[in-house]
Amino acid sequence: MKQHRFSFIPGFLFILSLIYPANQSPVYSKHGMVVSGSRWASEAGIEILKKGGNAVDAAAAIGFALAVTYPQAGNIGGGGFMVAYTSKGESFTLDFREKAPEAAYREMYLDENGEVIENLSLFSPLAVGVPGSVDGFLKAWRDYGSGKISRREILAPAIRLAARGFPITYRFAGFLNDRREFFERDDGARSIFVRKDGRPWKAGDRLVQKDLARTLKRISRLGRDGFYTGKVAELIEKEIREGNGIMTARDLARYESKYRAPVTGTFRDLEILSMGPPSSGGALLIQMLNMLEYFRLDTLGWNSADYIHLLTEVERRAYADRAEHMGDPDYWDVPLEMLTSKTYAKSRIQDISFSRATPSSEVSAGDPTAYESRETTHFSVVDRFGNAVSVTTTLNTSFGCGIVVEGAGFFLNNEMDDFSAKPGVPNVFGLVGKEANSIQPGKRPLSSMSPTIVLKNGAPFMILGSPGGATIITTVLQCILNVVVHRMDIQEAVSAPRIHSQWLPDVIMTEPRSISKDSERILVSRGHTLAPYRWGYIGQANGILIGKDGFYGGADPRGENAAVGY
Ligand code: DON
Repeated sequence: MKQHRFSFIPGFLFILSLIYPANQSPVYSKHGMVVSGSRWASEAGIEILKKGGNAVDAAAAIGFALAVTYPQAGNIGGGGFMVAYTSKGESFTLDFREKAPEAAYREMYLDENGEVIENLSLFSPLAVGVPGSVDGFLKAWRDYGSGKISRREILAPAIRLAARGFPITYRFAGFLNDRREFFERDDGARSIFVRKDGRPWKAGDRLVQKDLARTLKRISRLGRDGFYTGKVAELIEKEIREGNGIMTARDLARYESKYRAPVTGTFRDLEILSMGPPSSGGALLIQMLNMLEYFRLDTLGWNSADYIHLLTEVERRAYADRAEHMGDPDYWDVPLEMLTSKTYAKSRIQDISFSRATPSSEVSAGDPTAYESRETTHFSVVDRFGNAVSVTTTLNTSFGCGIVVEGAGFFLNNEMDDFSAKPGVPNVFGLVGKEANSIQPGKRPLSSMSPTIVLKNGAPFMILGSPGGATIITTVLQCILNVVVHRMDIQEAVSAPRIHSQWLPDVIMTEPRSISKDSERILVSRGHTLAPYRWGYIGQANGILIGKDGFYGGADPRGENAAVGY
């Protein structure tokens, strides 16, 4: 595979390389490209593309493969979103977000005094939303696949990886060892993710997942019925019932993913296509880009004090709107037109001053639960036919609620925590919400996932997205600005250190090496508070840039993401 540097202005890149650590070049290819959270999954996607499948076929295969090789967030027990642009010039988004079970109710996480019961929406059977991934992957494949790749072929790589196992990396071994105590709380999780002999995992060990292989075979044979009805549905219901949860086989049978119109906007000469409600991602991304368009960004310099000040002010305003206005559009009237309008953006920036920070509000900073890891995963795919697909999936926090469905071999999500359990009480990502995102039966919790496609001259130019809870949207924003304003190649754009703010808590969160000491002093003098991001690194963005001569993949070095082309 040929490696190319995709640089707009080489001299500028040289100067940038003095500012933050240099990294590798993007991966270049001519016929297709996949960038995902796992090399195995990226290769599964390429296998499908090489067979003549299109990017949607590949995306479905990658989604199932990630359920095996990236079990902390790749999933069949969770949900996600897909944004796509087809070779016919059509775009669509598919919402396969989890739904609240029919028996869910607004106060389900509150005690008799109306206080939120710690961890109930995170690590209990009550945390589980009705999973959407299987319906989503299969629906996209059925409706937008090439028609040349059978369901059996879509699931084959995942089944192979689960049944035969795959050798784990040093990093993944450490990751599993660190979470041993978490796995030991659940019999199903222990039996798969703790080594039988009790020893720590090491690089090169094979992770075999026989039950998961059987579940995937059922899906391969029976389609969505192999998951939402019959044996697997019975096993899920049993698992939930035994823990006094509320999700039922009826909830599963009734689940359906939904096509929704993408949210669209422009930034300079580019068009933005992204995920609309029940994700807040696309609307906020467009709102922030609209606000930023009124400033002379090019004069500010990457991560200078003025640049970070401006991003923070813009983010603060957008996230305040998120908390008030955003929720599942099937249950709440989201003012999307307002949120994404240029005029509204102009009105929102009137009180931005470069000399002082605007205090977010009187509400004190939320202190998220003492949970120390979170995961979601994003993958981007392009094919030689001109299709582009951007998918983010999640179980919410790492390995979801920690419960593996016994006999079926997969983790269940804890997406219910994305609802606002009580107005003003922050969720695990410190996000607050109100009525718009309150719990109701059948409702989808508000998300920040932002799978995005940027079009230039009416054709896909950039495909990207990221995990990171609340930081997803600002991660995607910074990656776009890194390419469009700061002229980075896609590898640099996803690697460059990031900052994040979200209205509440009123803090600029920083990654290592994201900001110089003197910029920090300037920001503090304007009234900002800065703190290292509590989980260390912000997001893991996986992106593709489409150049005149081919595809350029950028895999985020913050994890074991892999760009594979052919
Ligand atoms: O949908 C959301 O916004 C969250 N459930 C995503 C969680 C996440 O990104 C965790 N990953 N780092």
